[in-house]
Amino acid sequence: MTILVTGGAGFIGANFVLDWLAASSETVVNLDKLTYAGNLETLASLQGHPHHVFVHGDIGDSALMTRLLAEHQPRAVVNFAAESHVDRSIHGPGEFIETNIVGTFRLLDAVRGYWSGLPSDRQTAFRFLHVSTDEVYGSLSKDDPAFAETNRYEPNSPYSASKAASDHLVRAWHHTYGLPVLTTNCSNNYGPYHFPEKLIPLMIVNALAGKPLPVYGDGMQVRDWLYVKDHCSAIRRVLEAGRLGETYNVGGWNEKPNIEIVNTVCQLLDELRPRADGSRYSGQITYVTDRPGHDRRYAIDARKLEQELGWKPAETFESGIRKTVEWYLAHPQWVSNVQSGAYREWVQKQYAAGNP
Ligand code: NAD
Ligand code: TYD
Repeated sequence: MTILVTGGAGFIGANFVLDWLAASSETVVNLDKLTYAGNLETLASLQGHPHHVFVHGDIGDSALMTRLLAEHQPRAVVNFAAESHVDRSIHGPGEFIETNIVGTFRLLDAVRGYWSGLPSDRQTAFRFLHVSTDEVYGSLSKDDPAFAETNRYEPNSPYSASKAASDHLVRAWHHTYGLPVLTTNCSNNYGPYHFPEKLIPLMIVNALAGKPLPVYGDGMQVRDWLYVKDHCSAIRRVLEAGRLGETYNVGGWNEKPNIEIVNTVCQLLDELRPRADGSRYSGQITYVTDRPGHDRRYAIDARKLEQELGWKPAETFESGIRKTVEWYLAHPQWVSNVQSGAYREWVQKQYAAGNP
């Protein structure tokens, strides 16, 4: 048996592939475009692995996707491939439209062609799982209830709008063509192999380099944080037992303001890698201009996933963030390799004059 994973050289996709192959002998065909966010070094431990097939390519390449599906005959497709960074979507939304919307459409259509030609028992067993985000629901006020699956879609950034559009396409391919789809909408992930343009890894990397820790606006924006391996276990569970056509919210019951996250990272670094001059890492915190259209609060109500499928996160925020900081301290080579010229150009553009 085989599954096809897209975007499996990125942060969550790679964690998913590594966890999958650690627990199963089912082959993973891993298709990734290797954008700035895709990193083969993350998959280095799989070199020569008999059940891992890496393919460099684009989900929007219909001919390639059709060929791969015919060749490998997967029983499921798990779609992680996306442009995923809100700040980049503000600077340049084009790639987000291209991959997240047009790419998802082309992938869905290639998968539909493959699926419709399967014998009926394999058609029934087939799954297309689309990995999405809580950001499609928009922004919550302080006292609003957490996002449920029934919330209206109100995306506010080019990123979240493009993910919302992709979710709608997935829904339509089920409703119209009967494609057996599942969608997960997850909160903010953190953990190993997270590209250091996102909040938590950026803070760790900048702190260690003695650089400013840029907090947007007042730092009181709230996100619900989930350790990446818990997201991966939720996806496995939904793939295994989710009801067709349903969406499942995935979250860690872990709402925290950004400034608290940054302070926690600083405290862990004070303990695990104290600064040579004895001062605290929190002294590097610098408030910078807020992100345009910055969503104030996300919170996930993950009761459907818990009640229907019995999923719960294994990590608390305290255990997950400690593991994460320890991982970055133990992998300086991975960090320095992903900080390529392209990464430096991004940091220069985004944080010049303190403006996001
Ligand atoms: P990431 O940016 O780290 O990785 C994305 C991967 O997709 C990269 O390896 C990239 O090379 C690949 N890719 C991009 N365009 C492609 C294309 N056209 N064809 C094939 N591959 C392509 O993102 P991530 O954080 O791992 O997120 C994975 C998925 O999970 C995304 O769909 C994202 O929207 C969703 N998600 C992320 C979070 C989070 O907190 N990071 C939370 C909820 C949902
Ligand atoms: P991010 O990791 O980009 O995820 P998302 O925007 O998808 O939630 O950002 C998480 C939060 O941290 C968000 O409220 C923006 C904020 N943030 C900063 O304050 N400073 C930064 O340098 C970055 C990258 C993010």
